[in-house]
Amino acid sequence: MPMSETMEPKILITEAKLQARLTELANEISRDFAGKEITAVCVLKGSFIFFSDMIRKLDLPIACEFLGVSSYGNKMVSSGELKITLDMNEPLENKHVIVFEDIVDSGLTLSYIMSTLKARKPATLKSCTLLFKPDSLKVPVEVDYHGFKIGNEFVVGYGLDHAGKFRGLRHIGVIEHGH
Ligand code: IMP
Repeated sequence: MPMSETMEPKILITEAKLQARLTELANEISRDFAGKEITAVCVLKGSFIFFSDMIRKLDLPIACEFLGVSSYGNKMVSSGELKITLDMNEPLENKHVIVFEDIVDSGLTLSYIMSTLKARKPATLKSCTLLFKPDSLKVPVEVDYHGFKIGNEFVVGYGLDHAGKFRGLRHIGVIEHGH
């Protein structure tokens, strides 16, 4: 059945389950980085809600940075073409950096971000993704922290969109299986 723009996403991860897992994740990161100030990098646009919840749950001093990377446009398959559309003003040299991503699908975006930021010589560089689709990986990428592993399905909500829609859902919904 072709996907319709008006189709209601089915609930995959409820708001309660999401928030409980984020608390666990934030506690784990807070323990790992205890005594350090971190630079938290929000990868726009999809991570902005995840990011804002995480920085409030982390028990650490945090500097917030925002990075724009162009990826899918309105399509549901990766073009493989990536560029930085919004860069940070602050240098990362000697900082403890954690990149917050919404979802790792092919891994192309995160691997591009990690190699770009590694060149800026941070003291530590870790990645934290809300959702991880291990079966969709096309390139090897180090995912240091993840909220949930999911299958090869197209998800929306909690910052994630399809053609600009559904970002405001409080849960993660699924609109198409096995694309
Ligand atoms: P990757 O480069 O293929 O790992 O894809 C990463 C980016 O693709 C994410 O930051 C999202 O913007 C987008 N993306 C991948 N899968 C989904 C999905 O299921 N729903 C919404 N966006 C997705």
